[in-house]
Amino acid sequence: MQRILSISNRKGGSGKTTTAVNISAALAHMGNNVLLIDTDPQAHATLSLGIKSREKGKDLYTLLTNGKQLGEIIHDTYLKTLKIIPASRKLTAFERDFSKMKEARLLLANTVERISSEFEYIIFDTPPTLTLMNISALIASNEVFIPMQTHFLAMEGLAEMVQLINQIRKIYNPNIKIKGIIPTFFKEKTKLSRSIILEIIKNLGKGIILHPVRVNISLAEAPGYGKTIFQYNAKSNGAYDYLTIAKQIKDKL
Ligand SMILES: Nc1ncnc2c1ncn2[C@@H]1O[C@H](COP(=O)(O)OP(=O)(O)O)[C@@H](O)[C@H]1O
Ligand SMILES: [Mg+2]
Repeated sequence: MQRILSISNRKGGSGKTTTAVNISAALAHMGNNVLLIDTDPQAHATLSLGIKSREKGKDLYTLLTNGKQLGEIIHDTYLKTLKIIPASRKLTAFERDFSKMKEARLLLANTVERISSEFEYIIFDTPPTLTLMNISALIASNEVFIPMQTHFLAMEGLAEMVQLINQIRKIYNPNIKIKGIIPTFFKEKTKLSRSIILEIIKNLGKGIILHPVRVNISLAEAPGYGKTIFQYNAKSNGAYDYLTIAKQIKDKL
């Protein structure tokens, strides 16, 4: 069965891209066929996988607007089992030109439906703003994973996400479900981290919290080299944490 996941949170800097890239890589290292789709015009996930050239016409924008074949758009990475559809600044033009068209929200979902079932996981990295692209990714997904910093201001963002997903479920996609909260920038020893986790459990139930990602400098450095954590520092806490989360996601059907 093909699983379609969005890594989403309306707060910027919550670890979405780091999570999308390294979960994708971890699942691919475990032998799964993974397609990462970068829906953020800032293209950080694209850059994190060392794809700089952004060859003309080989990105998500072209796929959505020019009806190109998927095979022409999908990029290879350092792993045979990991492919990516890159983002580019042009996605901003997609927002501008299509945001008034209601059907545009379904374009990504329809496109993803054409993607071969050879991919066991399709994973969306999403922008922080509530854009057409962000909504489109959620409409195309069955599962949402929310990376979230464990401080109190982040709780507000979580409540907004829960509301948004409820709306998307009602209007577009009855299958969508929040499958996990991933605590990011986690500092084990602080009381605050722990009390926030307890608060989330109170609201969303115990099974919802996945293994936390600790603050780890290698995770911040790796994208600068166009590398995943497994290429950059496979012995780091970051690599351990993301591998553990990937296993949890694999088990969470
Ligand atoms: N666990 C972590 N430890 C240290 N730095 C991190 C960690 N996770 C992410 N970062 C860094 O924090 C910044 C924001 O993370 P990012 O994944 O880009 O968030 P988002 O996509 O939600 O904006 C980036 O510079 C990233 O490299
Ligand atoms: Mg990002």
